[in-house]
Amino acid sequence: MNKIKALILILLVSVFGNAQEFKSPNGNFNMKFSLLSDGTPTYQLSYLNKEVVKTSKLGLELKNDPKSLLNDFKVVSATPSTFNETWKTVWGEETQIQNHYNELAIKLKQNGTEREMIIRFRLFNDGLGFRYEFPQQKNLVYFIIKEERTEFAMTGDHTAFWIPGDYDTQEYDYTESKLSEIRGLFKKAVTDNASQEQFSETGVQTSLMMKTADGIYINIHEAALINYSCMSLDLNDKTFVFQSHLTPDAKGDKGYMQTPCVSPWRTLVISNDARDILASRMTLNLNEPCKIEDTSWIKPVKYVGVWWEMITGKSSWSYTNDFPSIQLGVTDYSKAKPNGTHGATTEHVKELIDFAALHGFDGVLVEGWNEGWEDWFGQSKDYVFDFVTPYPDFDVKGIHAYAKSKGVKMIMHHETSGSARNYERHLDKAFQFMNDNGYDAVKTGYVGNMLPRGEHHYSQWILNHYQYVVEKAADYKIMINAHEAVRPTGICRTYPNMIGNESARGTEFQAFGGSKPNHTTILPFTRLMGGPMDYTPGIFEMDISKLNPNNNSHVNTTLANQLGLYVTMYSPLQMAADLPENYNRFFDAFQFIKDVPVEWSESKYLEAEPGYYITIARKDKNSNNWFVGNNNGVNPRTSTINLDFLEKGKKYEAIIYADAKDADYKTNPQAYKITKQKVTNKSKLKMTSAAAGGYAISIVEVK
Ligand code: NOJ
Ligand code: CA
Repeated sequence: MNKIKALILILLVSVFGNAQEFKSPNGNFNMKFSLLSDGTPTYQLSYLNKEVVKTSKLGLELKNDPKSLLNDFKVVSATPSTFNETWKTVWGEETQIQNHYNELAIKLKQNGTEREMIIRFRLFNDGLGFRYEFPQQKNLVYFIIKEERTEFAMTGDHTAFWIPGDYDTQEYDYTESKLSEIRGLFKKAVTDNASQEQFSETGVQTSLMMKTADGIYINIHEAALINYSCMSLDLNDKTFVFQSHLTPDAKGDKGYMQTPCVSPWRTLVISNDARDILASRMTLNLNEPCKIEDTSWIKPVKYVGVWWEMITGKSSWSYTNDFPSIQLGVTDYSKAKPNGTHGATTEHVKELIDFAALHGFDGVLVEGWNEGWEDWFGQSKDYVFDFVTPYPDFDVKGIHAYAKSKGVKMIMHHETSGSARNYERHLDKAFQFMNDNGYDAVKTGYVGNMLPRGEHHYSQWILNHYQYVVEKAADYKIMINAHEAVRPTGICRTYPNMIGNESARGTEFQAFGGSKPNHTTILPFTRLMGGPMDYTPGIFEMDISKLNPNNNSHVNTTLANQLGLYVTMYSPLQMAADLPENYNRFFDAFQFIKDVPVEWSESKYLEAEPGYYITIARKDKNSNNWFVGNNNGVNPRTSTINLDFLEKGKKYEAIIYADAKDADYKTNPQAYKITKQKVTNKSKLKMTSAAAGGYAISIVEVK
């Protein structure tokens, strides 16, 4: 480092006694580190000269270690540094991301034990990230975390968009309420799931989105969650202090650590403009650069599948109704009578391949292709699936050849039924089977309680399993889309073969009774802060009884809203989830799904308010075309969007897919209108969205 730089850095950090302060590169954030009189480390954060996080304690409680890593510390050193680089994405909301921060590393030593711990703080222009680091040392080698004691002390009774804290699922609708109202609303917010366990009536999950009374948006999450357990937040609803709450393992322990090691980053993304929260890349920036050398095989995917028909109950994953239970290798399917509702038949899959080829989709996902679905969850079964044995009516080789001849990729499905142990047992063979049969992407799933029994979906052991699967998949050049796994924390920067995750309430719940009409105006502010979601949009038939007379669910959006999702819910993996027959009925609207890319070079956040509306414009990575998407909450809304992001001097045609005047998500969801108009970078468009409506616009360069 040259001398001038070093001098500037020293000036950035003012040292007074046991307290240090530093600022973000743009000066908007100021963080103060200090030790309390008993040697407890704390931090305090201001944004635009206003306190946004009050003095909050830091530390960890250890098992069988009364002193723990909580107090009696002294500051050994405070090392400032700065970093500024721009890195290229393999896929993402843009092709390049700037990683610019000032750092302050506080080295602490505990009196008596002489144990050392570093707390590393990074201030970006969009917020704060910090983590604990435990260097290798004689006095701290192995330790077990009883609880992480990180506080996030809020300055008031903010509005929050929250889901219940749970060790096993994130598949909840969001509740908007004051922090003080969480306790009273908690029970109602807990809806049924195949596996769930809450820990406190004021426990909430991250990423947590909040808004202060004076209009400051605060998002708390974590980054680079590796070899640690997932953090929820437990609120003291008298003081508005959140305390970190880690997911326990089967024994109730919260982390087995061996030095040298680090915690994940704790993140606070903060702005007075909600659009900045969506534009933040802090979570990715706090992850390690890509570890996969050759990424040429990692490709964004637009796909269709044998899926929605099972989710709605129109067809089944299972092949037969003959058996009371299944034991793989013992049950003889060759003698079983087909039930007549099995979705994954060779014939039906070929129809889907034809549909994909005709309309330019990259892939076809098929679920229910392998033996075991007659008896797949709820019994805590260890050996559920083997991931290589197809049902008698699913011709793996024939389908591979057919798909190849049509230029379509098959997408594999590995439902583990929560038996992570069984999956690991079969993993190499299952991935080899994929390589042999032309599959380069797999949707994994973890429905039901975890095995090993007593483990939770978000504890350290199982997180290491998800990570093992991602890394092993990379060895086989396989892309992963994990359902029911832990919510992402930006690890896709390091392992971009992790192209998707569910880990939230996806479209499937629209067929399980429906989701709140403003659900997708919240997800980008919460679940998507850590990485893309396989939300599976594109439902055109909202009355599910039309697919299955025994299912009276209603999809709580308009059709135009479903189109907007392809832009607002960023993902390199996008499904057109509805049945071909419904796309054939609304063929002109389907054109947008056909046209919308899954690879972007730039993104502009035009309008945003969590729970109410989101409008995003993105530029196609492979052309000069732009695509705009809007998702609206329950209040019908008109606004004017400015197309000044278009290239100056170029002419474009805008094809607008919007809610018709009489559209209504409950009574008239399929009322949409398609119009065309010439636009330039000087154009402004006045757009109206119905309740739970939205719009999508293709802006195509006219040469
Ligand atoms: C739940 C997943 O989210 C869904 O997409 C899948 O079809 C079922 N599990 C079966 O694996
Ligand atoms: Ca799910």
